[in-house]
Amino acid sequence: MAIKLIEPPVPRDMMPKHVAVIMDGNGRWAKKRGMPRKLGHVQGAKAFRKMMIHAIEIGIEYISFYAFSTENWKRPDDEVHSIMNLMSKYLTDARTEFGDEHVRIILLGDNEAFNPELRQKFIDLENDTKDFHALTAGCCANYGSRDEIVHAAKAIARQVKDGTLQPEDITEDLISRNLYTKDMPDVDLLIRPGGEMRISNFLLWQCAYAELYFCDTLWPDFDAKEFDKAIVEYARRTRRFGGL
Ligand code: IPE
Ligand code: IPE
Ligand code: MG
Repeated sequence: MAIKLIEPPVPRDMMPKHVAVIMDGNGRWAKKRGMPRKLGHVQGAKAFRKMMIHAIEIGIEYISFYAFSTENWKRPDDEVHSIMNLMSKYLTDARTEFGDEHVRIILLGDNEAFNPELRQKFIDLENDTKDFHALTAGCCANYGSRDEIVHAAKAIARQVKDGTLQPEDITEDLISRNLYTKDMPDVDLLIRPGGEMRISNFLLWQCAYAELYFCDTLWPDFDAKEFDKAIVEYARRTRRFGGL
């Protein structure tokens, strides 16, 4: 599939480099229609696919999608199971669909908890797309920001223990390089559809100076127009990073 580039909603130099999206509201979308929650996830996965295409066509460089959190394992088994199945299907599709689009796909999250087949799919997809640079898409699955920071702390502690790193050499940059997002810049724009105004353990370190955008649209209804609206709002903001 050849995706044509289109004019972005704001001039290119005003575009966010890294957009992070909390795909929330699938369950409520289904409930409103008297459907089981898992059908909400099916629709949510379709919205994800459309958003990937839109990100490619307007030339976003980095995007992260929150698909499944470390806390989402608390949900009933059949819901977890259906989300895992959907993820597996979309990973297979992504390989064919975005293969020609030079999209790099990386897993942000702990791969250990997945069944061997899904784990392998993530590994293969990362390997197959590792040299692509048009868009880098982070799939946040079994992702938790605190869990990620614990992983980084352990990795750094091991280096200190074996003598290859001195405690004085621990910097913000070193911590960033030990996170799952090591190949991505900090988040510029965080979008949360679904009406909740919270971060839910998502990219806490990387969002230190992100612009936050919340909207009531439930994720399955979130479309290219809504995405562009968030980008226009982002371009209107003045970012100060603590300065004047
Ligand atoms: C987001 O939608 C998808 C996942 C967390 C996997 P929800 O399933 O959280 O939907 P709501 O928030 O209950 O409507
Ligand atoms: C955040 O949504 C996680 C994902 C979208 C994957 P949740 O629905 O899990 O967040 P809370 O429970 O409302 O904070
Ligand atoms: Mg939710």
